Amino acid sequence: MDNTIAQSSNNPDFVNSQKRDNETEIETLKQKLEQMDEQNNQLQTRLLDAAVANSSYLQNIQKLKEQIEELKRPPLFVASVMEVLEDTALLRQHGSNQEVLIDIPPEMEGELEAGMRVAVNNGFGIVNLLSKPADMRARVMELIEAPDIDYNSIGGLDDEIQEVVETIELPLTDPQMFIDVGIEPPRGVLLYGPPGSGKTLIAKAVASRAHATFIRMSGSELVQKYVGEGARLVRDVFQMAKDKSPSIVFIDEIDAVGGRRTHDGTTGSAEVNRTMIQLLAELDGFEERGDVKIVAATNRIDLLDPALLRPGRFDRIIEIPLPDEKGRLEIFKIHTRNMALGDDVDIDKLVKLTEDLSGADIKAVVTEAGMFVIRRRDKKIMMADLMDAYHKIIVEENEDAPSGMFV
Ligand SMILES: Nc1ncnc2c1ncn2[C@@H]1O[C@H](COP(=O)(O)OP(=O)(O)OP(=O)(O)O)[C@@H](O)[C@H]1O
Ligand SMILES: [Mg+2]
Repeated sequence: MDNTIAQSSNNPDFVNSQKRDNETEIETLKQKLEQMDEQNNQLQTRLLDAAVANSSYLQNIQKLKEQIEELKRPPLFVASVMEVLEDTALLRQHGSNQEVLIDIPPEMEGELEAGMRVAVNNGFGIVNLLSKPADMRARVMELIEAPDIDYNSIGGLDDEIQEVVETIELPLTDPQMFIDVGIEPPRGVLLYGPPGSGKTLIAKAVASRAHATFIRMSGSELVQKYVGEGARLVRDVFQMAKDKSPSIVFIDEIDAVGGRRTHDGTTGSAEVNRTMIQLLAELDGFEERGDVKIVAATNRIDLLDPALLRPGRFDRIIEIPLPDEKGRLEIFKIHTRNMALGDDVDIDKLVKLTEDLSGADIKAVVTEAGMFVIRRRDKKIMMADLMDAYHKIIVEENEDAPSGMFV
């Protein structure tokens, strides 16, 4: 080995070639360095480009954020959620009644429910939820733990009240009687008759006498205000009635839910059908519910679906007519019993005059007469007050709306 090195270093040809090799290598390295310099420069430039792009993206984000804020700002519109499908919802804008299908924003997933009110912007983007589902349920029904109405404050209707007492009050207050006799206690009655004739009054009086919770739900509110929720609300109401039993579920305006089923395929009628089906299920199924009785009321029995009138659904179907003479006399006495009447007040004349009027009309006349007295800073109600009130409430109103009061 040593020998070889000595040999080579003494050979000038070898030295020269070695030198050339070194020079070439240096040259190559120089070139490489230049290339790297060049690359470095290019990268620097690209880095700069990227920094510029980044900053313009940031600016863009800022602009978009401002736009979002802009969209959130008023004018906002109120819309109702009509239906919630998987990740889309059908909204109806109040006022214009325009219906649109929107994608539910991810942050509102699971929070939207049919019947809720929401605030939307111009583009129908949901900005805010205006009502919580729980509020809705609270508003659809009125709950009175122990209503304070006596049969004494109902004028006339003696036979009708007797029937309701037998079918609703007795099974609640004296269930043993039915067991002893061996008949199944009745579960519900349907009251029908013109507006203001005392249907609600009777339902409350029964609940009061039976010391039962009174839960009122309104058919028209169920299907109009709480679209898409009707069936569930019906279920909830009956569940609550069971929890708070003994109780009376008063279904007012049952015709709105239990009208003849239509099959025109529109959202509205499909909704009514679902609510109606749930209601029938509750009517049929509440044997196990124990102390829950049903009183339903309608002004339009002619509109009711025959399915509701079928035997077994309501044990009695009772007409609550407009008061006869005796009834009107009692109603006048009831509503004036806390008033000081002048000597000239001729109740018989008023009774004759108010033929075809309802208890509610009579109450309105008496109340208005009382207002006249208050306006005069007096205490006694005179015949003239009652006559003036009659003209104002009945005659004038009736001129405005010829088909109003006397229908
Ligand atoms: N027979 C009656 N005796 C005493 N007051 C009555 C009678 N009928 C009606 N009224 C008065 O009219 C008001 C309204 O009556 P109620 O709410 O019971 O009528 P309704 O038959 O339920 O009417 P609607 O069909 O419009 O719901 C009662 O609060 C009461 O003041
Ligand atoms: Mg009523």
